[in-house]
Amino acid sequence: MHVQFLIPDYICSMDKFHELRNKIATAILGGGEARISSQHKKGKLTARERLQLLMDEGSFEELDMFVHNRNRGMTTDQEQFPGDGVVTGYGTINGRLTYVFSQDFTVYGGSLSEPHARKICKIMDLAMQNGAPVIGLNDSGGARIQEGVVSLGGYADIFYRNTRASGVIPQISAIMGPCAGGAVYSPAITDFILMVEETSYMFVTGPNVVKTVTHEEVTAEELGGAHTHAVKSGVTHFSCTNEVECINNIRQLLSYVPQNCEEDAPVYPYEPTDEIRPALNTIIPASSNQPYDMKDVISELTDKESFFEVHKDFAENLIVGFARIAGRSIGIVANQPAHLAGVLDIHASVKGARFTRFCDAFNIPLLVLVDVPGFLPGTDQEWNGIITNGAKLLFALSEATVPKITVTTRKAYGGAYCVMNSKHIGADLNFAFPQAEIAVMGPKGAVEIIYKKEIDAAPDPEARTNELVAEYTERFANPYLAAEKGYIDEVIVPDQARIKLIKGYAMLENKVVTMPRKKHGNIPL
Ligand code: HXC
Repeated sequence: MHVQFLIPDYICSMDKFHELRNKIATAILGGGEARISSQHKKGKLTARERLQLLMDEGSFEELDMFVHNRNRGMTTDQEQFPGDGVVTGYGTINGRLTYVFSQDFTVYGGSLSEPHARKICKIMDLAMQNGAPVIGLNDSGGARIQEGVVSLGGYADIFYRNTRASGVIPQISAIMGPCAGGAVYSPAITDFILMVEETSYMFVTGPNVVKTVTHEEVTAEELGGAHTHAVKSGVTHFSCTNEVECINNIRQLLSYVPQNCEEDAPVYPYEPTDEIRPALNTIIPASSNQPYDMKDVISELTDKESFFEVHKDFAENLIVGFARIAGRSIGIVANQPAHLAGVLDIHASVKGARFTRFCDAFNIPLLVLVDVPGFLPGTDQEWNGIITNGAKLLFALSEATVPKITVTTRKAYGGAYCVMNSKHIGADLNFAFPQAEIAVMGPKGAVEIIYKKEIDAAPDPEARTNELVAEYTERFANPYLAAEKGYIDEVIVPDQARIKLIKGYAMLENKVVTMPRKKHGNIPL
């Protein structure tokens, strides 16, 4: 960002303008050339370089450039840096108003002082009042040590605003450097976290404290790097190979979401083509135990290349992500038979619940694709609370009032049938493929329970079991019993599914649901 660009040369002949130009030049340099170069050597961009990539060209308007750090604290001669370690302002992304802050690691390691926090709070307040998203580019050593408690107060001011803004405006956090201690809780409250591999980390306590307390030896990357949080903890929704990819992901993510909870997501141009999708007739294998990739189904159902997966590397047995159908945003929650047979477990349930709640808060219709054998059995799941955690997904889908459509592609067994957007919990349209098996449990498990005595008494128990399984499959493992009750609105030839969705969402466009009066629900946390 060149100073000449901001203040043309011809004006700078006047003293006052010259002074302003010099002040801007100083502010733009942040912590100075040496620290900028050190930032680059770590493979990181500066706060301003990131903003240039993120915002539409020429759209960024900076606020509070001259706010500086307090000249008191542990020492009286602290170096003064205009801007105080964070660049804040507003501009447009894909032509839409967006507020942003970008922490400047070259100034006191991007650490958060009281003025730094005030700058962030100012743009958060503006974002709330004007109904537009806030994006935070985090790169910070945490609380400004020299400032003490006022820095902690600054964090709390931000956490409070994050919470107030939750469900009102979209909030996105990119972690592009350190993010440790209590500082992690602002991103954690926001809607989406993106991390950059190798150059960012998040943890409540770092490797040294971990070693002292638990005697574990672990690197920062292993403890809280992008890969760890994408795969193991699920703290981050996106793990990006570099900063440019991270910023591109933010821009793409915003394209699916509205500016605030009162608006709808932008509609993209869409050319109707042949909406019959023959490939859908052959994706589901003949054998109900054979895996297939639900992403193949998603790509046939949604507009070309519109699927944008969220939380890709975490709980892969459930897929969540945004896509478009006839140019309009939808949120997809889908079992993934290619991973653990698409079973629901703790991580999958929490992942699905959180995504569902985001879509519901921001008027994004839901599409639920079902092929689920049930909930994962075992002590690990029970002792870690599959009951409470599974209930989160049930609660979130029940509570959602956006248009909700379900397509059961194959299995829908037991409690998982109820949870995965069944008619009973408020789905608007429920379609099933002819291969669907909607029953209390799979055929083998069912006959082993209800015909136990008969099988034990049979001369050839295995042969008798097979006969009974075939009989049960014929009678119960199909979509027609559910369709007879109206739990399935229509059994469809798979190649028709996209047309059914286009018409279904159009039919539900003006859906209004009035909820019982309450302060808020009590989702089982
Ligand atoms: C003031 C800080 C700082 C901080 C870094 N700096 N962290 N200044 N407060 N918290 C300064 C350094 O003095 C240095 O200044 C510059 O930033 C770059 O730091 P380096 O250490 O040279 O960089 P690097 O080697 O990349 O290491 C980065 C780091 C390390 C891992 C973040 O600086 C570090 O461990 N910092 C302390 C982290 C920390 O404990 N923070 C408090 C956590 S508690 P110069 O002048 O040399 O450029 C917390 C509570 C929040 O945050 C509670 C919220 C409720």
